[in-house]
Amino acid sequence: MSASRSLPSSIDATLSLLQSQGYVADRALATVLFLALRMKRPLLLEGEAGTGKTEIAKVLSAALGRRLIRLQCYEGLDLASAVYEWNYAGQMMAIRLAEAGGVAGDRERLESDLFSERYLVKRPLLQALEPQEGGAPILLIDELDRTDEAFEAFLLEVLADAQVTIPELGTIKAAEPPIVILTSNRTREIHDALKRRCLYHWVGYPDAARELAILKAKAPGAPAKLAKQVVSFVQAIRKEELFKAPGVAETLDWASALVELDAVALDPAIVSDTLGALLKYQDDIQAMQGSKVGELLDQAKQAARG
Ligand SMILES: Nc1ncnc2c1ncn2[C@@H]1O[C@H](COP(=O)(O)OP(=O)(O)OP(=O)(O)O)[C@@H](O)[C@H]1O
Ligand SMILES: [Mg+2]
Repeated sequence: MSASRSLPSSIDATLSLLQSQGYVADRALATVLFLALRMKRPLLLEGEAGTGKTEIAKVLSAALGRRLIRLQCYEGLDLASAVYEWNYAGQMMAIRLAEAGGVAGDRERLESDLFSERYLVKRPLLQALEPQEGGAPILLIDELDRTDEAFEAFLLEVLADAQVTIPELGTIKAAEPPIVILTSNRTREIHDALKRRCLYHWVGYPDAARELAILKAKAPGAPAKLAKQVVSFVQAIRKEELFKAPGVAETLDWASALVELDAVALDPAIVSDTLGALLKYQDDIQAMQGSKVGELLDQAKQAARG
């Protein structure tokens, strides 16, 4: 066995496991994650963009020393991309070679050879059912809301039994089911049937204290005063009417941008010039420019002092 580590034995242990990888979770998230690991249930994380849903799976993989297998969902995702497909070109080549070698007569053998593991291309869901060094892998099914309902129904089957059936080969069942993390940005609702199988957690924006801790962990180069002001400003701007409020990802980007510019504190000019690191829609940027920046900045500075 390699660097595999055992699962956390308490909520506090889960918190520090995540912390050891620079992930600052609140107690509610640590609790549901601890339970998901304990109860061997998939964990469905829904929430705003850039709030650390995908990161959880990555951090868990690193912290537990388990392989991370990622299925990125998108519209039109099919079984050939998610589970397996046959290496058609390879099969054709084998047939040609068999013909050339004059062994095509041994039809049965050729056929069973063509539909053996040798020509099976394993995609993430199938890979996740196979034994991995270090123990059951982390299976990240990312942005599930982007697939269609037919795929979701299929997924439900795979998750329920931790197995898939390949007609030409038979049923492949995981000896130890993978640790499954599903994420969704809620562009559509995930079906109740799938939700019922999972533990659920809504990943919201962090409060100021936690966002500051995240900033310290992820952007340690930012001066303390600047970090505090950045967090206060972001917390304030999230309360505004915006088309797209900044996530933690944007906070980190903005802090890095400010550090690049050698800023030690926020002022109206530098905020205006760097707003594009925080807001990604021109309408939002326009609405926040000018006197609004000054207003938010005053609020932020006051909060940062407090
Ligand atoms: N609690 C946290 N602790 C440490 N880093 C965090 C935390 N939350 C978010 N981040 C950082 O924010 C960035 C975005 O996180 P992530 O990609 O996981 O967001 P997401 O919720 O999956 O977003 P999306 O819905 O857009 O996919 C990452 O760089 C991650 O490290
Ligand atoms: Mg994500």
